[in-house]
Amino acid sequence: MTIIVAPSLLSADFLNLQADLKRLDGEKNLWLHLDVMDGHFVPNLTFGPTVLKKIKTVSSHPLDAHFMVTNPDEHLEWFKEVGLHNFTFHWEAVTHHDRFIQKAKGLYPSVGISLNPSTPVSSIAPYLLKKIDLVLLMSVNPGFGGQSFIPEVADKIIELQKMKTRHGLTFQIQVDGGVTDKNAHSLAKAGATNLVAGSFVFGEPQKNYGARIAQLR
Ligand code: DX5
Ligand code: ZN
Repeated sequence: MTIIVAPSLLSADFLNLQADLKRLDGEKNLWLHLDVMDGHFVPNLTFGPTVLKKIKTVSSHPLDAHFMVTNPDEHLEWFKEVGLHNFTFHWEAVTHHDRFIQKAKGLYPSVGISLNPSTPVSSIAPYLLKKIDLVLLMSVNPGFGGQSFIPEVADKIIELQKMKTRHGLTFQIQVDGGVTDKNAHSLAKAGATNLVAGSFVFGEPQKNYGARIAQLR
């Protein structure tokens, strides 16, 4: 089973972003995790399509955008021109999930649903899980990098994995927040197929990000 590692650019060096991106060149099975925050759904603010378009010009890794925004519907069309691979929205921010997923699937190759730590997996009906490509389980409260992993999320991975088996579903299980070499193995064993890691990867003192990615794998 190939695990995708998705370094979160939130912890990269914003003054030398291009250099940091170059350090990830040549890595296999790597997505660039891009946390779009609106200062409303979460207290923090990050970047929009202008910056993401620039990132796309210097990296060939698939762009994985995680929208922590109050109204993802307004962002669907707006970010189309960036060339994102995956568009993940927060379940808590959308009312008409089926309609939203249909629209998103028409615009992006991959669509994901993100659940806050307190949102149960049972909120998502299997018929919706059939239509999406990824479920992102937040393992910290969204908004900031460098927080500690919430261990109870492990049970949600197991529950999702059971739903996958029971219904013959193929979506990825992505875990985001506090992922390190200490918990990566147990997360993957429980069913995680895609690990987001911000501070663990970009916190490597010599900027040897490949070494941290190898440690996670
Ligand atoms: C938090 C973001 C994460 C964050 C993870 O709201 O969704 O992607 O960057 O950072 P670490 O890996 O440092 O917890
Ligand atoms: Zn994220």
